Amino acid sequence: MEKREQLYEGKAKKVFKTDDPQLLIVSYKDDATAFNGLKKGTISGKGVINNRMSNLLMQYLEKKGVPTHFVEELNDRETVVKKVSIVPLEVIVRNIAAGSFSKRYGVDEGKVFDVPTVEFSYKNDDLGDPLINDDHALALGLATKEEIELIKKYALAVNEELKAFWSECGVTLVDFKLEFGRLDDGTIVLADEISPDTSRLWDSKTGEKLDKDRFRRDLGGVEDAYTEVMKRLLQHI
Ligand code: TMP
Repeated sequence: MEKREQLYEGKAKKVFKTDDPQLLIVSYKDDATAFNGLKKGTISGKGVINNRMSNLLMQYLEKKGVPTHFVEELNDRETVVKKVSIVPLEVIVRNIAAGSFSKRYGVDEGKVFDVPTVEFSYKNDDLGDPLINDDHALALGLATKEEIELIKKYALAVNEELKAFWSECGVTLVDFKLEFGRLDDGTIVLADEISPDTSRLWDSKTGEKLDKDRFRRDLGGVEDAYTEVMKRLLQHI
């Protein structure tokens, strides 16, 4: 496997071509942003943790029947993944009210839902990733009806698996964001990452936030929180 030129640099990762047109290398950075890039900072060691955690969780989910882009971890920060065309939807699953849900609907953070919710944002930085519904996604041509149904099914399956897994670690899975991609033959697979950058993880006993909200909200102890959830994951995976 040969690493070739950089294809893309995102807020938290770089993506490189390889000598195999079907494979890419992602490289996780310590850079952190929030509020569509308005807030910028560094979370020291984050790239290493997110790379490892995302890979372990993707392999766990593969075993549970959810196809993913994961191929092989190369080193601390770099992973080989299948090349996909990203479906431009941020797929957000929520078990407990927090963040934009609490703000938009005037609900206290911490209200536990009877059933999980799935919502879509249109992945478009210029527009600020607006909330959209299934019909809007169809009208915008972002995905087909069948793809939307499959994506929702996978997202809820991921939620059940991760909720149970994190619970064993003494961590409550509040909400998270997923992205899906299409392989060349159209197969939908889970892509991007699953990490404390893209999930809300609360200590089950104390309610302490163990995720990127510590950075977004200037709560301090960001690195320690990432290290703590990683430690707990490694004890249970
Ligand atoms: P929200 O409450 O701000 O809509 O966030 C819901 C979840 O999605 C939360 O776990 C954080 C994650 N998320 C991302 O991964 N990327 C983003 O750009 C945003 C806004 C949220």
